[in-house]
Amino acid sequence: MCGIVGYTGKRPVVDILLDGLEQLEYRGYDSSGIALKCADSIKVYKAEGKLKNLREELSSHAYELTKSVTGIGHIRWATHGAPTVVNAHPHTCGCGKLVIVHNGIIENYKELKTELEAKGCKFKSQTDTEAVAHLIASIYGEVKDLTKSVQLAAKKLEGAYALCIMHNDEPGKIVATKRNAPLIIGIGENEFYVASDVPAFIKHTKKAVYLTDNQVATLTAETLKIEDENENEIPVKVEQLPWEPVALSKMGYKHFMLKEIHEQPDVIRNILVGKLHTCDSPIVLDEVKLTRQTLKDLNRIQIIACGTSLHAAMVGKYIIENFCSIPVDVEASSEYIYRKTVTDAHTLVIGVSQSGETADTLTAIKQSKSRGSHILIITNRPDSAMAREADSLVPVSAGIEVSVAATKSYIAQLTSFYLLALYMAEIKGTMAQSDLTNLKSEMLALPQKIEQILAHKENIQKCARKYSNTRDFIYIARGLNYPTALEGALKLKEISYINATGYPAGELKHGPIAMLDETMPVLSILMKGTVYEKLLSNSEEAKARNARMIALTNSTDEKLQDLFDYIITVPDVTELLSPIIAVVPLQLIAYYIAEFLGKDVDQPRNLAKSVTVE
Ligand code: AGP
Ligand code: GLU
Repeated sequence: MCGIVGYTGKRPVVDILLDGLEQLEYRGYDSSGIALKCADSIKVYKAEGKLKNLREELSSHAYELTKSVTGIGHIRWATHGAPTVVNAHPHTCGCGKLVIVHNGIIENYKELKTELEAKGCKFKSQTDTEAVAHLIASIYGEVKDLTKSVQLAAKKLEGAYALCIMHNDEPGKIVATKRNAPLIIGIGENEFYVASDVPAFIKHTKKAVYLTDNQVATLTAETLKIEDENENEIPVKVEQLPWEPVALSKMGYKHFMLKEIHEQPDVIRNILVGKLHTCDSPIVLDEVKLTRQTLKDLNRIQIIACGTSLHAAMVGKYIIENFCSIPVDVEASSEYIYRKTVTDAHTLVIGVSQSGETADTLTAIKQSKSRGSHILIITNRPDSAMAREADSLVPVSAGIEVSVAATKSYIAQLTSFYLLALYMAEIKGTMAQSDLTNLKSEMLALPQKIEQILAHKENIQKCARKYSNTRDFIYIARGLNYPTALEGALKLKEISYINATGYPAGELKHGPIAMLDETMPVLSILMKGTVYEKLLSNSEEAKARNARMIALTNSTDEKLQDLFDYIITVPDVTELLSPIIAVVPLQLIAYYIAEFLGKDVDQPRNLAKSVTVE
C-alpha cells in the first residue's frame, strides 16, 4: 500500500533512501525502516511513526552507515499487525542474511507460515510479509541464487505485492518483483533505483522501466536484468518520465492540500486547452478510441471508482444521462467485483482513478475487459497500471497530487466528464446546438469563477472556525449536487475526523432528521435550478428542528437571510456545471477546520494515497 525505495550504486545510500521515502510520505504511513548492506552484514533500522523518528534512530549509528552503497527502505501502512517497530519493514529471515520490504497483502500467508514453522522457522512479527522472508530464505538454502529463489517463491504467493529483497551473500544486489502493486526502476549512471512511485527518484533520473506483473528484476550498480517468472530474459524497455521534481514543492502554502485547491483554476484551463477551443467549435477528444458508430450504438455505460473518484463518477452519470440519453450505472469498484455484473461489447466501462493504481478499480476493469467491454480510463497517472489496461485513456493532467485528500484531481475528473459527455452528445446529436454553445461558454468561464471563490476565502475560513467545535456535520443537496454533498462530507471526515455525512435532502425526513437539534450543523448546497425550491423546503424542515443552518449558494434571494445562520455565496453558474463551483468552498471548509484543529492535513491518520490492496 505504501512505499518502497531501493538503491544500488556507488554513492552513500542512507540519504538517498531517506529522501526517497520522504517523497513517498504523501501516500500515508505509520512506521518506517531501512536495510543497508554494510561490510560484514546487512543492518536493519526501524522506527514507529514518522520518518523523523527513523532519522533519529539512525543518527547514533552515523559512522558505520556512511559507507553503505546498497540498501532498501520502506514506509508501512499496516495491514497485518499493529504499527510497531517489530512489525515495521524490512523483515529478515531467521539468520538475518536475507531482508525484504513489501507493499501489499499476501493472502495465503497463514498457510505459508504454518508450513515454514513446521520446518523450524521462528517468526518475530505479526506481518504477512515475514512469511515471504522465510520462504525465500528457505529456497535460497537450496538454490543459492537470490533471483532464482525469488522466482520460485513468487509462484507460491497469492495476493498483491511489490517486493525488494537483498541477501548478505550477494552484496550490491537487489532483486525486485511485483504483482498487482506498482514498482518502477530508475536508471542512473552506474546506479539503479527501485521504488513504488516516481517521486522517490525523480531528482536523480528521468529514465525508468515499469515492471509488469510477475517480472523479476535483478539490479547491481552496473547491470539491470529483467526476467519473467520462468527465467526468460525480457528486453529492458526504458521510458523517459515526463516529470519535474519542482512539482513536489508547497510553493509557500502551509499545506499541499491548500496549494492543490489553489491550483484548480489552472488545472481546468490545462484540460480545456486543445479540447475546447471556442463555444462554437466541436469538442476534440482524440483520446476516445471508440468509432463514431460504436459510440452511437452504445446501449449502456458503467462507471466504476472508489472514494472521491466515485463522487466524480456520480456527477458523470448525471451529465452523461442528461446530455447523451444513455443509461449509466455507477458503482463502487469493491462492490462491482464480487457480484455477477452484466457487461458486454455494447457497454462502455469507465474506470476513474486519481492514482490509476487502486486495486479494487483495477480488478473491476480487468473483469469487464475480459467480457469484451471497451475500457475508458480517466486518470491523473497516464503511467499507471490502469492506464495500461485502457482501450481509451483520458489523462486528466492535474499534476502530482501530494495531499492524501483529493481536491484538484476531483475537479480535473469532473472537467473530463463534462468534456466526454459533450463529445458524445455531439456525435449522437442528443443536445440542441444552443445548449451546447451555452455550456461550452460557461465551461470556459469556470477558472475565473473559482479564482473569485479563492479570492474571498476569508468568509469560508470564518465559517470553518465557527463550526469547528462540532462532533458531527451534515451536508444536504439534491440532484446533481448530491455527489457534492458526499464529497464535502468525505473531505471533512478524512482530514478532521469529524463524523460528517452527505444526504440527498429529500431523504432527511426518512430518518436522519431524528438526529437534528441545536448542536448539529446542516450545510445546504443550494444552487439555483430544478431542485432549488425543493431544497429550500428541506432546509426549512431542518431549521424547524433547530439545526445550525449554513447555505452554500449562488442565489441572492433575501429570504435566505432568515433561514440560514451563515451564508457562503459563490459566483453564479448554470445548474449543470454547479458541481465544479460548489465543491471548492467545501474543500476549503474541510481544510480550515482540520487546520484549526491542528490535524495532520496532508497525511491524515489511517489513510493511504494509493490503495493497492482490495
Ligand atoms: C480522496 O480524498 C481519498 N483519499 C480516497 O477516497 C480516494 O479518492 C480513493 O482511495 C480512490 O483513489 P483513486 O482515485 O486513486 O482510485
Ligand atoms: N501487509 C504488509 C504489512 O502489514 C505490508 C503493508 C504495506 O504495504 O505497507 O506489513
